[in-house]
Amino acid sequence: MVNPKICYRPIRPSDFDSLEHIHVKLFPIRYESTFFQDVVNGRDIVSWGAVDSSQPHGQSDQLIGFVTVRIVLAKESEIVDMLGYDSSKSGQTLVYILTLGVVDSYRNHGIASSLIREVIKYASSIPTCRAVYLHVISYNNPAIYLYKKMSFKCIRRLQGFYLINGQQYDSYLFLYYVNGGRAPCSPLELLAAMLSYMRSGFKLVAAKLCKSEDRKMSRWSKCKESHSLVSVTHNKRNLAVEYTGYECV
Ligand SMILES: CC(C)(COP(=O)(O)OP(=O)(O)OC[C@H]1O[C@@H](n2cnc3c(N)ncnc32)[C@H](O)[C@@H]1OP(=O)(O)O)[C@@H](O)C(=O)NCCC(=O)NCCS
Repeated sequence: MVNPKICYRPIRPSDFDSLEHIHVKLFPIRYESTFFQDVVNGRDIVSWGAVDSSQPHGQSDQLIGFVTVRIVLAKESEIVDMLGYDSSKSGQTLVYILTLGVVDSYRNHGIASSLIREVIKYASSIPTCRAVYLHVISYNNPAIYLYKKMSFKCIRRLQGFYLINGQQYDSYLFLYYVNGGRAPCSPLELLAAMLSYMRSGFKLVAAKLCKSEDRKMSRWSKCKESHSLVSVTHNKRNLAVEYTGYECV
């Protein structure tokens, strides 16, 4: 590939097949068809695609990279303790990166960096938004390097967060503050943060206690439950079968 001319645009319904194809190639998990439907139709998900317009007609509008994000309420997120006191009280929001990828032959040309810059610009344009965040599996060095390069801060290591084909993997949680978002710093904020962190710890223990009950649930109800995504704190992502949690790996 010589001198690609990369353009960025929203993902649209005609991208459905290539979007699905790239996800299958890049990620060790299978995403439900509803996820791609939601992305291409912009249902609760905002996305950007990268295309190489220097390619011959017919390929010049084909996706070679993408990023998908969702807006979540700060007070319902697992990083509420990483935000100032106001964020847990009011209608403040966060942008959560669901998936990001660039096809092999187009890597190391700064395409993912540009896609992340689009996300940061978008998050900054939302007055209520205080940060962009994401999970990444602990062995994904190119992605970890990329987020650090883009000034994301690694704020947490979540043990056994992913369960892929029966094997547990840790994840890192990366965060980038926007619009004056910041970590708690006053004694009151630190206390509130500590309490909310402890509360999430209790939720984790409760989730573990419920785990055996979960096994008895039907597959359908499991799928529905995992749709709650970031509103559940520190829940493990079981990626062995169909996956509806949508986090980056
Ligand atoms: C991670 C990914 C999106 C990066 O895409 P990209 O377009 O190549 O990223 P960029 O070109 O903007 O930046 C890549 C940077 O990582 C560096 N890099 C690449 N491989 C690396 C590695 N194994 N270790 C450390 N750094 C690495 C490059 O040198 C480059 O840094 P530089 O700009 O300082 O030279 C791409 O590798 C990918 O799609 N991976 C598979 C899907 C995935 O893991 N997605 C992220 C899930 S959280």
